[in-house]
Amino acid sequence: MHRSHTNGELRLKDLGKEVTLSGWVQKARDLGGMTFVDIRDRYGITQLAFNMDINPSLCEEARTLGREYVIKVRGKVIERSSKNKQLSTGDVEIDVTNLEILNASKIPPFTIEDETDGGEELRMQYRYLDLRRNQPRKNLELRHKMSLETRKYLDEINFMEVETPYLIKSTPEGARDFVVPSRMNPGQFYALPQSPQTFKQLLMVSGYDRYYQIVKCFRDEDLRADRQPEFTQIDCEMAFVEQEDVLNTFEGLIKHLFSTVRGVEISEHFPRMTYDEAMEKYGSDKPDIRFGMEFNYLNSEAQNKGFSVFDQAEVVLGIVAQGAGDYSRKQLDKLVDWVKRPQVGAKGMVYVKCNQDGTYKSSVDKFYSQENLSDWASKCGAAQGDLILVLSGGLDDTRRQMNELRLHLGNELGLRDPSVYKPLWVLDFPLLEWDEEKARFHAMHHPFTSPKPTDIEGMEDNPGAVRANAYDLAINGVEVGGGSIRIHDRTLQSRMFDLLGFTKEEAEAQFGFLMSAFEYGAPPHGGIAFGFDRLCSLFGGQESIRDFIAFPKNNSGRDVMIDAPSSIDKQQLTELGLKISPLD
Ligand code: AMO
Repeated sequence: MHRSHTNGELRLKDLGKEVTLSGWVQKARDLGGMTFVDIRDRYGITQLAFNMDINPSLCEEARTLGREYVIKVRGKVIERSSKNKQLSTGDVEIDVTNLEILNASKIPPFTIEDETDGGEELRMQYRYLDLRRNQPRKNLELRHKMSLETRKYLDEINFMEVETPYLIKSTPEGARDFVVPSRMNPGQFYALPQSPQTFKQLLMVSGYDRYYQIVKCFRDEDLRADRQPEFTQIDCEMAFVEQEDVLNTFEGLIKHLFSTVRGVEISEHFPRMTYDEAMEKYGSDKPDIRFGMEFNYLNSEAQNKGFSVFDQAEVVLGIVAQGAGDYSRKQLDKLVDWVKRPQVGAKGMVYVKCNQDGTYKSSVDKFYSQENLSDWASKCGAAQGDLILVLSGGLDDTRRQMNELRLHLGNELGLRDPSVYKPLWVLDFPLLEWDEEKARFHAMHHPFTSPKPTDIEGMEDNPGAVRANAYDLAINGVEVGGGSIRIHDRTLQSRMFDLLGFTKEEAEAQFGFLMSAFEYGAPPHGGIAFGFDRLCSLFGGQESIRDFIAFPKNNSGRDVMIDAPSSIDKQQLTELGLKISPLD
């Protein structure tokens, strides 16, 4: 027997028991007469005591133990004289009578402690050691609990988990595909699914009216803190539903997760906002509504007063940072530099300090009287002691820049408390998005998304104005999920492909299977997919989804532990009929 108990289990009630424990050496302390060793497993740490007077040879052996050695001990549970309140097992220790080294360990490349000395790159290279630390372990435990509770909730309401293939034909979700060459079909490639979108729709045609899957998806796109090339979705689809049914069902899932995983009860409905309203008020389709700072449109107040930058702008936008009227010149200069960084891209920023004495101080005092500035303040609802920040330019760019500035200020002013959760449904997305570069429309969500019935008429005449039956769930400014009611009619699906610039032949070649399925009794259907890694990091109160993935990739898409991607040998290439030529 390797163990009778885990290392997180023993308490005062176990005093006197003979136990066997196995685990890793966290640390050893040699105090002359006594040697203490902390033994660790994923359940906790227990102190082992070796007494030089009673068993000198055993004590000597204990002194040879290095960090991360794997050991097995036998002994009696005794009460500790100096108790450790930090440990759940801190009232007891083991008076060891038998010690066996199961495996030695090299000195680990970083300390396996909460405050480790290992940098990210090193910890990722030795991720199996990093995972022994408390925080990564807690993150994976949270992830496990989230998937378990998701399955419980969905199972309870008749959802069935069905697996779909990974070696498929490209799914058009907007990113590049990862492709896999086929040895048996030389010159041909599978694509890894960007999501199981078409398969879940086919399952609806097959009659599995409530499907879900916790599933890996693969997208070859630029990576960020909340993006991985392979990530996990809670992917769901329902038949015989309208948008309202989908929203209610999955609002229920998120509430269930908050309740069971975080102990947060949300009784009211999640607020809803249209895409247009979100863009107008926050310049983002996933606004963080934990704080206000909505956009104010200052065109009529700020234009035609001789300041050419504003006069020439399509839009002049102002936001109010409450209580920030005492920002110093240095702080304001820093903000100006911040908005001018290429990542934000503003040309400049104007500020107005609303002084406590009722006067105003702005960076454009030359052009605007106190009365003008007072008009700005009333339009923005700014009070004495507040700071107004103003950006101007083209509508889309200025909204985007102002969104960045708003979030930045939210962080700076401590308005984005990670323990507060503010979900928001964003509805009525546009069906299409104009791609300047390619001079054609893209599906904003994906090509199977249904236009709003009232807007179908205008599909050909004014495609840009057509709204979709599509929705996203944002929590605290993170897009955690998105979905839509689908097109289930072959004719409408063809019209959609026409709008997207597919020829009939292209549409047939790529999606013929789906369109022909629609001819065999496709029910009305719709669904949603949640970014599972994003949900986990949000519930865990951390920014990076990488921390919630056992073996993540770095920002260049590399797994530095197994050193992937890597070249393959010549024979493999030959078998696949592939030749590598240098990139231009
Ligand atoms: P969508 O493309 O919006 O929808 O993806 C759904 C959710 O998946 C998460 N997500 C990601 N998470 C981590 N890394 C990535 N690279 C990444 N890309 C997306 C986001 C996003 O909201 N088939 C549709 C769903 C549907 O219509 O039912 C789809 O995949 O949280």
